[in-house]
Amino acid sequence: MHTSIDVFAKARQHERLEQLRAARELDALPYFRVLEGPTLPVVEMEGQQRIMLGSNNYLGLTGDERVKQGALEALNRYGTGLTGSRFLNGTIGLHLELERELAEWMDAEAALVFTTGHQANLGALGTILAPGDTVVADSGDHASILDGCILSRAKLRPFRHNRVDRLERTLEKAAADGGGILVVVDGVFSMEGDVAPLPEIVELCRKFGARLMVDEAHALGVLGRRGAGTAELFGLEDQVDLRMATFSKSLASCGGVIAGPADVIEFLRIQSRPFMFTASAVPAATGAALAAVRICRSDEGRQLFAKVLDNARYLHRGLSELGFQVVEPTRLADGTEVVTPVVPVVVGDDWKAVFLWKALYEAGVYVNVAIHPAVPPSGALLRTSVMATHDRDTLDLALERFAAVQAAFEAEHGPLPGRS
Ligand SMILES: Cc1ncc(COP(=O)(O)O)c(C=O)c1O
Repeated sequence: MHTSIDVFAKARQHERLEQLRAARELDALPYFRVLEGPTLPVVEMEGQQRIMLGSNNYLGLTGDERVKQGALEALNRYGTGLTGSRFLNGTIGLHLELERELAEWMDAEAALVFTTGHQANLGALGTILAPGDTVVADSGDHASILDGCILSRAKLRPFRHNRVDRLERTLEKAAADGGGILVVVDGVFSMEGDVAPLPEIVELCRKFGARLMVDEAHALGVLGRRGAGTAELFGLEDQVDLRMATFSKSLASCGGVIAGPADVIEFLRIQSRPFMFTASAVPAATGAALAAVRICRSDEGRQLFAKVLDNARYLHRGLSELGFQVVEPTRLADGTEVVTPVVPVVVGDDWKAVFLWKALYEAGVYVNVAIHPAVPPSGALLRTSVMATHDRDTLDLALERFAAVQAAFEAEHGPLPGRS
C-alpha cells in the first residue's frame, strides 16, 4: 500500500510560513543575523557596529585574554576535536579538573560535564525519571527541560509560572500518581529574568517527599556571594537535590553541567544517553570554561557579579524613565529585590515587537525578540541583557537610541505598553 501522506508536508505548510515570508520581505526578520566579530559590548554585525544588548555573555568573559588563553592552550595540547564520547575516547584531564572545580564552586558532592546545557538537561531528566514517575515543571521552564521530561516518558504535570499555590495543588495530584516525584524549575527564567521562589518550593518538596532540580543557566556566575546561583542566593544549596548549569552564558563557552550527590552523578555517567552517545565538546570550549570558572571563583568574580547587576539596574532605570514597560525585578517574600542581567521590555503584539526590534537594529542596537511560544500569547518582549563589561557611555548611548526610536515608532504603530 502507498501512503498519501508526505512527512515533508509540515515543512511546506506550517503556520509560521506566511509570517516568515512577510518578515523577510520587509527585511524585519530578527533571527539568524550574522556577527562578524566577537561578542563584546559593541559588536560588528552585518556591516555595522551595534551595541550588543542581546547576549548571555553576562560577565563579558568571551573577550577576556585569560579565557582565550585557556581555549588556545587546550587547542594546542589536544587539537581541534576529540572525535568521541566522554564515555570512550573523549575525556581529557580538563574535563576532570572542570568537574572538580564546578562541584567545589557549587558546593556539591560531584559534577558531570556535558557537551551542551541542553544535553545536560536531557541527560539528567531523561535518566533520573522513568515511566511511572511524575515530573512537576514550571510552565516557564526552558525548552530543554521540557525536552528532558518528554524523553523520560514520566508523567508531566506543569504548573502556572512561579505560582506556589498552583505548585502545591499540582503536588497533591502528583502524590496520587503513585511514582517518584521530581520538581524542576529554572532558578532565573530565561525570558523574563525573574527568579523562582526557592524557599517556598523547597518547603513544598519536603512536604510531599519530592526531589528538586534547579536549572541555574542564567544564575551561575551572577547570583549569590560566590556567584554559585539561586540556590546559593537563598542559602539552600543543601536542599536542592540537583543543579544544572551551562557554560554558554557567564562562562563564555559552550557545554553544560549537572551537580549533585556523588552516587546520582555516577549513575548519570554510565547511564545517561545524551552524555554517552554524543561527542565531547571541543577542547577549546572546555579550556575556556575552566578559565572562566577560575575567574568567577577569584576575588575578581565578586566584582564582576556586582558590575553586571549594577548595569542591569542602570539599564532598567533608564528604560523605565523613558516610559518603556520593563519587567520588574522579583520581590521576595521578605521584600528584597533580586535583580538579574535580563531586562525585558514588554511590547505585547508580535509584529510590534518585530518592528521595534528592526528600528533599534537600524539605529545600532541589537536586542533579542521573544514572541509566542517563547513567551505566552500577546506577551512579546524585547529581551535586553547586559554584560559586566558594558561601560556607562555605551549604556547611555543605547538609551539615547531607544529614545530616538521610540517617538518615530509610536507615531507609526501607536503607543507601546505603559504609554497609552
Ligand atoms: C534556562 C536554560 N537552560 C538550558 C539552556 C541550554 O543551554 P545551552 O544553550 O548551553 O545548550 C538554556 C540556553 O538557552 C537556558 O536558557
